[in-house]
Formats: sequence, C-alpha cells, structure tokens
Amino acid sequence: MVNQMYLSSTAKALLGQAAFKVLAKAKDLERQGKNVLHFEIGEPDYNTPENIKKAAIEAIKRGDTNYVNAAGILELREAISEEIEKTRGFKPSVNQVLVGPGANPLIYFALACVADKGDDVLLPDPSFPSYIAAIAALGLNPVYIPLREENGFRMSPEDVAEHVTPKTRIIIMNSPQNPTGAVMTKDEINGLSDIAEDKKIYLFSDEIYSKLLYDEKHHSPAFRDGCNERTLLVDGFSKAYAMTGWRLGYCVGPKELISKMELMLQTTVSCVPPFVQYAGVEALKGPQDFVVNMRDDYKKRRDVIVSGLNKVPGFSCIYPHGAFYAFPNIKDTGMKSDELSEILLERIGVATLPGTAFGPQGEGYLRFSYATSLDAIKEALERLNEFMGEIA
Ligand SMILES: Cc1ncc(COP(=O)(O)O)c(C=O)c1O
Repeated sequence: MVNQMYLSSTAKALLGQAAFKVLAKAKDLERQGKNVLHFEIGEPDYNTPENIKKAAIEAIKRGDTNYVNAAGILELREAISEEIEKTRGFKPSVNQVLVGPGANPLIYFALACVADKGDDVLLPDPSFPSYIAAIAALGLNPVYIPLREENGFRMSPEDVAEHVTPKTRIIIMNSPQNPTGAVMTKDEINGLSDIAEDKKIYLFSDEIYSKLLYDEKHHSPAFRDGCNERTLLVDGFSKAYAMTGWRLGYCVGPKELISKMELMLQTTVSCVPPFVQYAGVEALKGPQDFVVNMRDDYKKRRDVIVSGLNKVPGFSCIYPHGAFYAFPNIKDTGMKSDELSEILLERIGVATLPGTAFGPQGEGYLRFSYATSLDAIKEALERLNEFMGEIA
C-alpha cells in the first residue's frame, strides 16, 4: 500500500495569494509567445531609487552582513518613530516598533498573538487576500464586513458594530484600500476606534498605501491611543519606495504585544537583513520627491484607466482615491469574475484578478493594478473595448 503523506490541518488550510497564481499563468502564456499586459500584480512599475540602493550597497561593503537584533536595528526603529511623529502626529517609543520582512508576515504575527482558534476576526470584504489566508492558517473565524459600492467601498462603522460578538478579538481596517482604492473618512476611522475602545478589542490598521493618496491627507486611527492600548499600525516600504522585493515593513503597537511578535519573528526569520534595514533608513530620511512624483504619475494613470473602463461595454468603475487599483463592476457582462478574468487573459492577453480573490463580495468585479505604463493601459483599454463589444 502506498503511504499517504500526512499533512497537518494548518498545511491543508493554506491558501496563498491569487496574484501569484495568475502571474505564473500569464508568464506561461508569454513563454508560449503571447503578448500579455500585466494588471494582476500589486507592485509599482518603478525601480527602487538609487540613493536607497546605494545605502544598502554601502552597508554590505561596511560589513553589516551579520545577524542583528530581531526587533530591528535601532537606527531604523528610531527613523520609523520619527516618521510616525511626522505623519501620524505622535511619537512611539522604539520598543513599540517592530521591523519585519515586509508588512505581510507582520499581519500573520499580529493575528497569531491576539486571537485563539475559533475567535472572530472582522475584516473588510473584499480585502487583501493575505488577511483571509492568515485567518485560515491560524484556524480563526473570518467575519466579513461587506464593502458596498454605493458607499464608495468604504468600511462602515455601523456594519462593523453589528458584527462584533464576545468572540471578536480584532478588527482589520485598510485605508487606502486594496483592492478598491477606497479611502475612509476621518469620522469613519474614529467610529472604528470608538468600537474598539468600547468593546476592548484590537484595531489593526494596515496603512501600506498611506503615501499613495490622491485627493486628501492620510488619516490613521493610531493617533487615538498612540498605539499604546489597542491600535496596531502596519506600514512598509514596498509600495511607497518601490521596494517590494527587498521585504521590509514595520508594525507599531503596544509594547507587550510587540515583544511577543518579536519572539514570533525570532522563531521564524531570526531578523531582517541589516543592509536592507539601512536601505529603509535612507528611504525614510532621504529625499522624498520620488514618492511625490510616483504618486502624481499614478494619479494620471488612474484618470486614464477609470475613464477608459467606464466606456468598456458591460463595465462601470468608481474612482479610487488612493493605492493603485481600479475595481470595475462587471455585473452587466453577465459573466462571473473568475470566468471573465480567465477569458481576458487567454483571449486578449489582459491579466487581471477576479474580485473573488479578495472575498465573497468581490463577485461581479475585477481588479486592475494600474501601476503600469500609460501605453500598456491604453493598449489594454483598446483590446477590452474591442473584445467586450464583440461578445456583448
Ligand atoms: C493591503 C496590503 N497590505 C500589505 C501588503 C504587503 O506588503 P509587503 O510587501 O510589505 O509585505 C500588501 C501588498 O500587496 C497590501 O496590498
């Protein structure tokens, strides 16, 4: 008899990220000679600025290539503390700051440290697939808060309040949001802080797109308690400084919780490479014109893609106010999201993600990451118009 490989319930619960699956398929098609326009992966098409690369290279040459403190080098934690003071209006102590290999694992560590199997985690639906995957891997119970298009896809405190139970440990919010580009108002954010305070639960604020807002200033719930009691703030370098491959992010939170997350980091990755962390110091302390120019550029692309998508037969799209995602409604095409996403990739070489990759409420939507060239956007719009016109 063939021995069946034993797999744990954690192994069986692993979901991963849909973007990587679509990217692999798109690359496969490219290898077969098909021209593919990429809108599936959520990363800047810019390269990391030279001054940041140089800081890492200098650190390597200096010999900063050994293990370092698991929480992060002091220079970076201090730079992050100053950055939070500048952008969120309070200065956390360095022992409230944890540096991690990207924001993504910090989401997992935070959930693992605040919730037990079967506990409720409130999260936006649709949302970043890693929340759903981390919740599943940890055996937690996802409680989806629907983001409604008629509310600009903003998470409503009233909806959140309705779903809080004695088993709720944490509310996840994300503004600007992936995959909708929605930006919550100051009042809505305050409403979530009120609920967290009243019910004595954690509020996890994923602010990875905090520097990519088009029309307004960034608001964070972290100011309320200075991340001393129940607010956890996650941000990073991937999106703002085009550093997705460097794996660098950070979390600010209550120091007891941060010290537990630090132990998780010690257990799993030991520490973030020091030369990567020196690049992070330069990103925060060096010139910021790169971020401003990139954001202005994305705004131009947003205007082109959103007005273009609104002309595609069967599509309608509201304006995202931050991040770099358009989330058109495709319900009038009569097709399911994954069906349309697959057809567009195979037939016209336009790679998108189905809305359902982000949660059940994503049915009837596609996500386009428009951090790609204006030429690619224009070409994709032409292909879409022609193809959707034909099959309508
Ligand atoms: C909302 C959100 N949070 C976190 C991340 C992960 O960022 P990092 O590259 O820092 O792990 C992403 C990446 O797409 C994201 O969209």
